[in-house]
Amino acid sequence: MKKVSIALCLTFAFASASAPVWALAGHGPETIDLKAAYKVVGEKNAVIFPHHKHQEKVECAKCHKDVKGGGPLVVDIVELTGTSNDFHKKFCWSCHVEMKVPKGKSCKTCHR
Ligand code: HEC
Ligand code: HEC
Ligand code: HEC
Repeated sequence: MKKVSIALCLTFAFASASAPVWALAGHGPETIDLKAAYKVVGEKNAVIFPHHKHQEKVECAKCHKDVKGGGPLVVDIVELTGTSNDFHKKFCWSCHVEMKVPKGKSCKTCHR
């Protein structure tokens, strides 16, 4: 009985101690060319999304349906043309406004 509870304690200690490390580590691609990934057609410079940089500031679950990250995003990206595309309207801009990212809505921040 004693052994079991020690094992449980260790499991919990490990789980909580490893949580911040897991949140900070680089997962998936470091950067993602969203123009290529979503086959976006247009004149603007491709957005090279700094994925790992975001992982240092934002939890996976803010962007991915699965709390562990990867797979589908929390919003469906359907509209891909013009300035009312879903990346602007539902995903990137909304969070940048919410988290008060400096120049978060400035074109040059994302289209370089
Ligand atoms: C927070 C990031 C972000 C900001 C800021 C941003 N965009 Fe975008 N934009 C995207 C993403 C992501 C896409 C889709 C992927 C791609 O085209 O590279 C996109 C696509 C577009 C498209 C459609 C594709 C194309 O090439 O025509 C246009 C037009 C556009 N943006 C214009 C703008 C303008 C104008 C601004 C400044 C007012 C702006 N964007 C600011 C992220 C951003
Ligand atoms: C600020 C938003 C954001 C955060 C935070 C984020 N991701 Fe992502 N992630 C993306 C985007 C956007 C893509 C590219 C989506 C696509 O290809 O449809 C992606 C793609 C991925 C991929 C590769 C493609 C796939 O679908 O599997 C993996 C793996 C991944 N993310 C894991 C993680 C993990 C793990 C975390 C947390 C440590 C995380 N991400 C945090 C936005 C984010
Ligand atoms: C859930 C919140 C969230 C989402 C969604 C999000 N961002 Fe961000 N983004 C941030 C935060 C927070 C920062 C500030 C990071 C920092 O301080 O280093 C940031 C910073 C950035 C930067 C500047 C990085 C630098 O070098 O300083 C770029 C570029 C960027 N985001 C692009 C995007 C694009 C493109 C998307 C959509 C595909 C997106 N972000 C979606 C929260 C988000």
